[in-house]
Amino acid sequence: MPTSLRLIAALLVAATIAAIASIAVLHAQDVAHARTQAEQMTGGSVDRGKLALSRYGCGACHVITGIADAQGQAGPSLAGIASRATIAGRLANQPDQMVLWLRHPQQIVPGNAMPDQQLSERNARDIAAYLYTLRKTTY
Ligand code: HEC
Repeated sequence: MPTSLRLIAALLVAATIAAIASIAVLHAQDVAHARTQAEQMTGGSVDRGKLALSRYGCGACHVITGIADAQGQAGPSLAGIASRATIAGRLANQPDQMVLWLRHPQQIVPGNAMPDQQLSERNARDIAAYLYTLRKTTY
């Protein structure tokens, strides 16, 4: 290969690597921002919420992004839940309403399949924090 072609090829490779790296950085910033925002909105902790989601077995009924074995089909998927307008088709999707739903689903929609699990306010805020990181991604 002539030297000039080799140079162009090398430049193309370098440009591709730079593009991939900048997308990765943007994605990491997006994830960090979503986390901070979710914790500010709810007053909960994303990390504790993740643990609580596993402990309470929410994944037995829901698909939940980022939670191991959360592939349940009895309830709606919680992928992208932060981007939805309503909770259970009844409540506005806002932090206090989410906490209310998580603590008292049977009071809000009597007889639905989601059990009241006696979540404390703290547990519900932590879980809500995690759920509000689950946005619809655009890439
Ligand atoms: C036994 C099954 C079951 C379990 C366990 C369960 N859920 Fe649900 N969940 C449901 C069902 C069914 C609905 C739909 C209720 C409705 O719309 O009337 C629902 C709805 C929801 C919604 C609203 C989703 C939407 O699209 O509006 C959220 C959020 C949610 N559950 C979170 C949780 C969390 C967090 C836990 C664990 C603490 C949990 N669920 C445990 C069955 C379950």
